[in-house]
Amino acid sequence: MNLKQTIKVGIIGLSAALLAACGSTGSDDKKLTIGTDAAYAPFESLNGDKIVGFDVDVLDAVMKEADLDYKLKNTGWDPLFIALQNEEVDAGISAITINDKRKKTYDFSSPYFESINMILTKEGSPIKSAKDLEGKKVSVQNGTTGQEALEKMFGKNENIKKFDSNVLAIQALLNGEVEAVVADNGVLKEYEKNNPDKKLVTISDKENFDSEFYGIIFPKDGDHQDEINKAMKKVIDSGKYAEIYKKWFGEEPNVDALKQ
Ligand code: ARG
Repeated sequence: MNLKQTIKVGIIGLSAALLAACGSTGSDDKKLTIGTDAAYAPFESLNGDKIVGFDVDVLDAVMKEADLDYKLKNTGWDPLFIALQNEEVDAGISAITINDKRKKTYDFSSPYFESINMILTKEGSPIKSAKDLEGKKVSVQNGTTGQEALEKMFGKNENIKKFDSNVLAIQALLNGEVEAVVADNGVLKEYEKNNPDKKLVTISDKENFDSEFYGIIFPKDGDHQDEINKAMKKVIDSGKYAEIYKKWFGEEPNVDALKQ
């Protein structure tokens, strides 16, 4: 081979390698990355290194229905929103409440779960309703609707103790750093039920906390909301959703509440 031929072969080889490389990035592109904060049982939590929960099962059913390949990544809560804005994840599922504030920055799927904030406190506590939280130290997960509800009632103030995860917010109650936790009812009821030795009580207050709906979250104007949304509708209408709901909550869902 003369020099010219060698260069030619070299270029062809390089082009083939480049094509192969591009081809493989292409197929990786199809695998969506979905972020979550796996510290919110029964919606998402770690079982060893596996993320499990109601949200995980709903997501899996939806992605199968949409015929989309994905991986679920435990990003944590605050980093999930940053990752969505930087489009480092294609979507998130994390018991995320659909609200107007978030809708300015993100898109959401149609609702897949109805929730409401509630209070977790120690047995024998004088706290009986949300109003009784006034002037008391209360923990929340940072940037959640629980924090928002407290700030709406009492204004931003230093009694509202914000933690990176709900697990840490509950820990603060157990340690006696705060007198109550405010978080989603599904999560606090689950914790109370699984930890009878901790002598905790949950308090619901439908006058002071509003009904909320969870949705899958997307970067604004991302690529996949339509197909995922369609698949979500099918999962709900086919009865697959009710099956998952019963597995995690032991009762039939009120599917009509999701359709308004
Ligand atoms: N539903 C509440 C919100 O959207 C709390 C969600 C917290 N989720 C979690 N995986 N830590 O603000």
